[in-house]
Amino acid sequence: MTPADLKKALDLLAHDGVVGMPTETVYGLAARIDRPEGLRRIFTTKERPFFDPLIVHVANVSQARALAKEWPKAAEILTRAFWPGPLTLILNKADSVNPLITSGLETVGIRQPDHPIALELIRQASVPLAAPSANRFGHTSPTTASHVQEEFRGQVHVIDGGPCQVGIESTVLRVCEERGTTVLTLLRKGAITLEHIRKLLTSYNITLRFEEPTDRKQAPGQLKHHYMPDIPLIFVEDFKGDNDGVTAEANRRLHELPDDIEGVKIRKPTRPLAKAAFLNFQKDPIMAARELYSQLRDLSATGADHIIYRHDPVLCQGEAWEGLLDRLHKASSLRL
Ligand code: TXA
Ligand code: MG
Repeated sequence: MTPADLKKALDLLAHDGVVGMPTETVYGLAARIDRPEGLRRIFTTKERPFFDPLIVHVANVSQARALAKEWPKAAEILTRAFWPGPLTLILNKADSVNPLITSGLETVGIRQPDHPIALELIRQASVPLAAPSANRFGHTSPTTASHVQEEFRGQVHVIDGGPCQVGIESTVLRVCEERGTTVLTLLRKGAITLEHIRKLLTSYNITLRFEEPTDRKQAPGQLKHHYMPDIPLIFVEDFKGDNDGVTAEANRRLHELPDDIEGVKIRKPTRPLAKAAFLNFQKDPIMAARELYSQLRDLSATGADHIIYRHDPVLCQGEAWEGLLDRLHKASSLRL
């Protein structure tokens, strides 16, 4: 990044523009939270429905506290341990937070990203930046500056901060207090696991209760499909048969799927599938997550017309793999 890149980004943000911002998880599409036109532009640029709320990115804890109605003790402990880092807290929102950010919910998502450029941009803007992942709605998230360029056909100014180190989106955790008990709801899995969170909070003698996300309003981003690459991804779990058998079965099954599910376009072939590309992971879940989205994009550009992932339950054991597997389930058109 050059000083000119940063200045251009700040100018755009000040004039209701949006900017591609590197973070440690994935690239974000940022606007100032005090610029409603900029916030609207995030949704129109991404073709994202207005019911899906945005995460606010802060440079420090005091900016975060100003966005929340209350600051539970658990929030204090979690942010001290995991910020800057891939943990988004969903807290009751302060009255001042624009409903465009929260889609009219009473809660707001907040995180401090662990990337020097993002932190510098927020500091110099002197105001937090709202940013969803910088991809078209439902599509694979970007983990390099050139992915963002491809997503928006060069129409968005992106600050190049190199490839993202984490590679999948932050853990999203709802935190609220009810009569002395801290109630936690995991809304999205990520690099920071519930086990990390539980261990830390119990070491501070916090009384915890875990809840499952119940209604859609509480967890608007929990769509069944998301992160989809350009060609169908087939997640093979239980299918007895070779790769040609997978392709043949996919040809039978894919055309029965609806064109879209919950507004997300399902990747379906227009002609019978013929040429597969294969997704394989590194053995370490951190490395595997780092490369996942780049791999999905690269495999989509090989000339193959579908991607086969053969799940290896022996390799992918334990909580550290869950965030990645959740992305793969949602990115796949079909599970066999
Ligand atoms: O790692 C990340 O979190 C990246 C980088 C750019 O920070 N951002 C990101 O944003 O993944 P996005 O918008 O693609 O995903 C945010 C998720 C969505 O599923 C959204 O529904 C959920 O967080 N979310 C945001 N605010 C919420 C709220 N108040 N209540 C419930 N869910 C919320
Ligand atoms: Mg996203």
